[in-house]
Amino acid sequence: MATLDILIYPDDRLRKVARPVDDINAEVTALVDDMFETMYEAPGIGLAATQVNVHQRVVVIDVTEDKSDPLTLINPEILSTEGEAQGDEGCLSIPGIYESVARAEKITFRALDRSGQPYERDADGLLAVCVQHEVDHLDGKMFVDYLSALKRRRIKKKMLKHEK
Ligand code: NI
Repeated sequence: MATLDILIYPDDRLRKVARPVDDINAEVTALVDDMFETMYEAPGIGLAATQVNVHQRVVVIDVTEDKSDPLTLINPEILSTEGEAQGDEGCLSIPGIYESVARAEKITFRALDRSGQPYERDADGLLAVCVQHEVDHLDGKMFVDYLSALKRRRIKKKMLKHEK
């Protein structure tokens, strides 16, 4: 396993739309393993392949504090949403920035796991937010897109200043 470099906003590659995975081969499972290692080391609770410059529909999530619920989402689809909840979000591609975003409160999603088995799961709270945030990444969307243009400009400036 290896840790991968995470793209930092406003890198254009974060705007690419990821392709569905059509074959869960050794390359894909190695990517999943590397993504978990990268996410846990960061540390973070979710990581989309887009953020490590691999444009395939692969997400890893673990919202627990003791690494007890690692979730692999390959080709994830949000099947239904319910309610609305406002909460602070951060992103490993926008380090140090936390802003309030409105998301669906509850969702049902479907995905393939690391072995290619389809599963469906209901989620609320932090997990629901995290799945919506990561699926957005696969479509080239980031949480700052939900903020005002003024806030987004300020964040962009801050990120560019920290660039080497
Ligand atoms: Ni993110």
